[in-house]
Amino acid sequence: MVAQVIDGKAFAAKVRAQVADQVAKLKEENGITPGLAVVLVGEDPASQVYVRSKGKMTVEVGMNSYEHKLDVDTSEEDLLALVEKLNNDPAVHGILVQLPLPKHLNEDLVINSIDPAKDVDGFHISNVGLLGTGQKSMVPCTPLGCLMMLRDHHGSLSGMDAVVIGRSNIVGKPMAQLLLGDSCTVTIAHSRTKDLPDVVRRADIVVAAVGRPEMVPGDWIKEGATVIDVGINRIERDGKNKLVGDVDYASAAARAGAITPVPGGVGPMTIACLLANTLTACCRANK
Ligand code: GUN
Repeated sequence: MVAQVIDGKAFAAKVRAQVADQVAKLKEENGITPGLAVVLVGEDPASQVYVRSKGKMTVEVGMNSYEHKLDVDTSEEDLLALVEKLNNDPAVHGILVQLPLPKHLNEDLVINSIDPAKDVDGFHISNVGLLGTGQKSMVPCTPLGCLMMLRDHHGSLSGMDAVVIGRSNIVGKPMAQLLLGDSCTVTIAHSRTKDLPDVVRRADIVVAAVGRPEMVPGDWIKEGATVIDVGINRIERDGKNKLVGDVDYASAAARAGAITPVPGGVGPMTIACLLANTLTACCRANK
């Protein structure tokens, strides 16, 4: 079997175009422009790239982008004061604090200081609880993007066996909740899972989110399964710098029914969902 390539780049462009249409309508009919504030502490190169890209796309869909770049040694008190200011700013509908934070800052404390209604990452404990109990919440962007691609490809996911490899708060756990919400039978696998190859071989849907380059080989993939690769890993190969996923693409594509490429799969969907969440937060605030 040769897998169908799930084109996340094209799908994300479609989502952004829909968001842009709605933003234009909000402006015209209500005089409201959604605003997204992104806070970056320190100079982590990967985070700088993500933040720049988020800011650019926010402006492209017609929203206001507010970037706050803070020194690496910013105190927790100062960061919390900024979040509080953004919580109280009516022009800001979404707040994202880029992770990871420098070691001296308590991530849980900072994330939970964001107004849950403005928590476009869906990381606040209230949103985690709402998602886990099937209530209306802000849904984390990367798993939401994965779910949208799966629904688009399959229609209904009901009754499918899904394996999520990785148990992070950002991707693995919320991904499992979303798949459960769509009536999949869900397994969360991780570094201590016994016989991971066998667990993966049973799955109709494999979501790989571990951050280890090409750790899932094609012979773990059931014939015809759908593979969603969340990994974005930079490696050196043949003297060149290359981006690869958590799945060995060539061998997996030879067995899967459908697969997301890296780059051009999950990555673009994450930012598109961030913009969609910001629009949702703005609409809810102005209901
Ligand atoms: N760092 C890596 N992914 C993310 C994300 O989705 N949101 C935030 N805030 N930080 C991240």
